[in-house]
Amino acid sequence: MAAGYAQSGDPVAKDYRNWRKENNAPYLSGGHGNRFLDNYSNNIARGYLKLRRGQTMPVGSILAKDSFTVTEGNEIFAGALFIMEKVTAESSPQTGDWRYLMIMPDGSLLGDSNNDSDDSMQFCHDCHKRVKSRDYLFLIPGKYRSKAAE
Ligand code: HEC
Repeated sequence: MAAGYAQSGDPVAKDYRNWRKENNAPYLSGGHGNRFLDNYSNNIARGYLKLRRGQTMPVGSILAKDSFTVTEGNEIFAGALFIMEKVTAESSPQTGDWRYLMIMPDGSLLGDSNNDSDDSMQFCHDCHKRVKSRDYLFLIPGKYRSKAAE
């Protein structure tokens, strides 16, 4: 899975498996196409699960989630890699200064909100806006939070 994403040449896709894993087991996520997810964060995003209302993440924080589907026959298929990166203040007001990126399992880039001519990732932010008060982050469902990551 990671090898496929890495073909994109994206630095996050190449590196995220060396980051801190924030969840203790893959969990099902409706918001991302009903896939199982794992969630990783870079060093700048340390303490991400402790984020409280009114706080914001430091610039350079990156959160990455890889995903897979399991069919009724128990076959496993790789899904997309979802990435959020905190960019400098006011550089992307339409996305709350988050860059949203989606990389397909074969390494192709589905969209990147940093690219001005591409608004295909706006739907990410439209949903993440529901948690605007916590810097647009949903955090991981409680029982899947890794104790080690906290
Ligand atoms: C319909 C709502 C919805 C949409 C659309 C959506 N998300 Fe999310 N996102 C969530 C929810 C709910 C969570 C927390 C649970 C989880 O991990 O799935 C989350 C969590 C995340 C996280 C972990 C950071 C956090 O919020 O704690 C990343 C990274 C992320 N989403 C990226 C994306 C990207 C990139 C897109 C678009 C390609 C996207 N999301 C589209 C609902 C959504």
